[in-house]
Amino acid sequence: MAEILRENGVIHLRNDAISYVMCEMPGGVPAHLYFGPRLERLDPKNLLRRAGVAADGSYSVQECSLDRLPQEYPSFGLGDMREGALTAQAPDGNCAVDLRLVGVETPGEKPALEGLPATRGEGCAALRLRLRDEHTGLEVELNYAIYDDCPAVARSAKLINTGAAALTVTRALSLCLDLPDDGWDLITLSGSWARERAIHRRPVTQGHQGVSSRRGASSLQVSPFMALARPDANEARGEVIGAALVYSGNFIAEVEGTQYEAARALLGINDRDFAWRLESGAAFQAPEAVLVYSDRGIGGMSRGFHRLWENHLLPRRWVGKARPVLLNSWEGCYFDFDEDKLVAMAAAAAKAGVELFVMDDGWFGHRDDDTTSLGDWGVDARKLPGGLGRLGERVRALGLQFGIWMEPEMISPESDLFRAHPDWCIHIPGRESITARHQLTLDMSRQDVQDFVVEAVSTTLKDSGATYLKWDMNRNFSNIGSALLPPERQQELPHRYMLGLYSVMQRLTDAFPDVLFEGCSSGGGRFDAGMLYYVPQFWCSDDTDALMRCRIQYGTSLVFPASTMGSHVSAVPNHQTGRVTPMETRFAVAMGGSFGYELDPCKLSDADREAMRAQVAFAGRTQDLRLYGSLYRLCSPYEGNLTAWISVAPDKGEAIFTLVRAMSQPNPVAPLVRLDGLDPARRYRIVETGEVYGGDELMRSGLCCPLGQCDAASVLYTLKAVDE
Ligand code: DGJ
Repeated sequence: MAEILRENGVIHLRNDAISYVMCEMPGGVPAHLYFGPRLERLDPKNLLRRAGVAADGSYSVQECSLDRLPQEYPSFGLGDMREGALTAQAPDGNCAVDLRLVGVETPGEKPALEGLPATRGEGCAALRLRLRDEHTGLEVELNYAIYDDCPAVARSAKLINTGAAALTVTRALSLCLDLPDDGWDLITLSGSWARERAIHRRPVTQGHQGVSSRRGASSLQVSPFMALARPDANEARGEVIGAALVYSGNFIAEVEGTQYEAARALLGINDRDFAWRLESGAAFQAPEAVLVYSDRGIGGMSRGFHRLWENHLLPRRWVGKARPVLLNSWEGCYFDFDEDKLVAMAAAAAKAGVELFVMDDGWFGHRDDDTTSLGDWGVDARKLPGGLGRLGERVRALGLQFGIWMEPEMISPESDLFRAHPDWCIHIPGRESITARHQLTLDMSRQDVQDFVVEAVSTTLKDSGATYLKWDMNRNFSNIGSALLPPERQQELPHRYMLGLYSVMQRLTDAFPDVLFEGCSSGGGRFDAGMLYYVPQFWCSDDTDALMRCRIQYGTSLVFPASTMGSHVSAVPNHQTGRVTPMETRFAVAMGGSFGYELDPCKLSDADREAMRAQVAFAGRTQDLRLYGSLYRLCSPYEGNLTAWISVAPDKGEAIFTLVRAMSQPNPVAPLVRLDGLDPARRYRIVETGEVYGGDELMRSGLCCPLGQCDAASVLYTLKAVDE
């Protein structure tokens, strides 16, 4: 059970697994003391001695001791020389903020964050610190929550201007975590289009290290996440702290190694090109950041995140629920289709047992390639003369659900929408706008644009009867300006865009509760905890090559569970890499996520069509285990030729194990893989081979896995405990 203890100025949040401890310093600066395994109590003088604080608690601001003091929400300019969490410019031009504690409250429940996604607070204890800068009247509410069921703490900051004059907030981060030592490695996820979320690990050294996005989205290139791992921590063992931002826009995630051998981790909205005018009486809500603690390695951190998102973030109506096996038309026919062709694809998919047929890009305006029509969401009668309604009906007549693609945040210069509303896009008046993929971005900060998007998506869903919507977003911001915002608010645009987008997502998911929304952004370019509040799954990457997907899904799984990763079998040679991999391996890898196909089933060989039928049946039977089991990563594609993972049922009665070997070798040796997460006291039958082994043997000695003699060979085994 989560609880909050308060004694002699020490504030202690704890549950069965972890503690988070802070205290009030003389003068009111809130100091951070501890985040780690559960403690009975913590004596501040012990730890604060390291920060130069005398045993009686006194320390001297004049002597710049703030530069050593571990703090909850520091600011720069009044003695702390490190990067701070908050900067606000007063009318006199000065930017210093001196926050002192003026109140500690324990609200009955975790407050929702106005306009922003955040973890839901059922089963948690909530705390609020009220801080105030007397000079400007700026108040900050620091909200904390600790959950009953996860080794996690959520934090957020709300700024309120109680002063008489307007302030300009130029930095308002969500999280500062001051750690007493710098003996950590920093783990981040970064990459590119079709190479998302590769794992990078580097030692924390004095100075700054981290990742950031200024693209208007969390991005393909970096993820709003970081982990601090002890240098000896690995997948299964050691201390790891993960931090993730529940936000989909510009962010920074960085660690500063200090002169005093301490480390400061910071996470929040990127302050570059950010300025928020806070009028007297106005408030600014910074997004939520969550911290997860693990003393069971990186794997333990991941399972902490997975449980947190499943229990507290993902749309409730989809958690634990079956996801339809889908076939998406994109790689099967791209823009080249008509009604009969789509229906033929759907019919072949239906024969294999597929449950949902998704028509991807190219059905609207005059869109035969990516140069036109975004924003013109009327059906292209040349391709679909019977409209969305007739196509939907024909697909449903085959026993399938119907799904559709849209890219609602975008506008093509070559569109009726642009001709009617040239000022609706993000642009700088008087400067030529730069297109990417021949398109511009709608200014989602505008109410009229938000209303247009809600209307367009609602009409499309109603006309088509679609029960699935793939929400794509294929370019980042440039020429960042809004026609409606006054000059002093132009730098608010990226965050206002996110607020507008979140509002639209909320309206649509409320209005269409039974529609499965899948997020997408050139693949996984906005795969973050912010979007996952609205959409339960995200197209993981445009790269459908099985070997590349091993890396991408492995990296993604550091933070996100299998159920959130859209993962499809595609044709070979693979369209992104040109590689030919066996059908069974493409399937084994796609089993690591929300499963589907990305090909034209009419073009499959009879053998592959037959295999597809068996695959769909297997996917259905194993869905709960694959999507909602506990994940243990076993072999890393970043470290060698093998990728392996196992997903284990909560009662450890069943598991599903996947192993992929990238390159074959002459004179091969069968891999011996130690499984994890099983019950060592039980025996398990490998369903596919009929062999029975003890859990202890599988976990401690390993499972020998002979593989076919080819590149990208794999095994996919289901294990069932035999309790007799
Ligand atoms: C990018 C997506 O990631 C693809 O899956 C596909 O939907 C295309 N956009 C369509 O334009």
